[in-house]
Amino acid sequence: MYILGIESSCDETAVAVVERGDKNAVLAEQIKSQVDLHSPYGGIVPEIAARTHCAAIDLLTRQALRQAGLGIDDIEMLALTLGPGLVGSLLIGLAFAKGMALAHDLPLVAVDHITAHIEAPFISHQEIAYPLLALVVSGGHTSLFYLEEKFNSRVIAKTRDDAAGEIMDKVAKHFGLGYPGGPLLDELFVKGDPEKFTFKMPRMSDGGPDFSFSGYKSALLRQAQALAIQPGSQDFYDLLASFLSALVNYLIHKTLAAAKGLPVRSLIVSGGVSRNSLLRQRFSRECTHLNIPLYLAEPRYCTDNAAMIAWLGYEKYLAYPSLNYFDLYLNSYSRASFRESGKHR
Ligand code: KG4
Ligand code: ZN
Repeated sequence: MYILGIESSCDETAVAVVERGDKNAVLAEQIKSQVDLHSPYGGIVPEIAARTHCAAIDLLTRQALRQAGLGIDDIEMLALTLGPGLVGSLLIGLAFAKGMALAHDLPLVAVDHITAHIEAPFISHQEIAYPLLALVVSGGHTSLFYLEEKFNSRVIAKTRDDAAGEIMDKVAKHFGLGYPGGPLLDELFVKGDPEKFTFKMPRMSDGGPDFSFSGYKSALLRQAQALAIQPGSQDFYDLLASFLSALVNYLIHKTLAAAKGLPVRSLIVSGGVSRNSLLRQRFSRECTHLNIPLYLAEPRYCTDNAAMIAWLGYEKYLAYPSLNYFDLYLNSYSRASFRESGKHR
């Protein structure tokens, strides 16, 4: 089955074509990143994001079909990100997908963006065993999910304030390094000594498994101010490297602590921040040591992409063949109700 996936939840417009069934492969992936447009503002401007999706989505779809060597008539299903995300951006994808579904009489499957991040490692590893624990760590989310089986997930922990990627983006913005901050901290890591500065690991007052990142940013800014550390100095690179190292250790510590109390057969780490070299290296080392099968999303499927949307769309189509996603409109009530109501097309 040939599936066309559409992702427009944030600042990447992405269209992918995947083949599922007898063969399982990503045939095409076209992504237009809007980083250059949002970079001067140090963060995403929702109106710019929506307008740019609007201008890009049609051309990207044509390019994806050409890359896959297919025509629209070969496509058998559409998959779309319904949320969470920026509402203007999501609406562009929804309007475009509904138009295509109507014009070409195609089934349309809407998927949850976070669940798609969890699905991303399955693109290269269909053997991943359940039950599993998944850490989704991105610019909008830092959550741990326990999945007894596909589509049966439970939130184990989430961030009480910022997401891990968001904290990196804010720190980079504060020092005028650019946007997004995560890849910049990744690149600068080799210039610094990660042992030079210490960051205390936060503990939840209720002893719960949730994350909290805002204290890391405050501690970093406090140390930079107290020692009058200037951007570009060796102390600055040491401080950034120590900060990144502390964040990574915290993510690993919380994830492995949660895994200890659950009968998990696999550990998944996905989302934009899972592209980080240090995180990948340290997670791999710890999991090898503890003999936990670790599945990291491939770097290109860590950040937002449409291949993971199409991949999950197919799984959802198999699991819920009679669900009708066509009369969806975007609000949290419809999202909650379409999962439960199972309307027939
Ligand atoms: O998954 P994603 O593309 O979008 C969301 O759903 O949020 O993640 C974007 C986040 C940004 O905060 C960005 O700074 C972070 O992922 N990121 C990284 C790296 N590449 C992207 N963080 C650390 N190291 C990286 N190499
Ligand atoms: Zn994402």
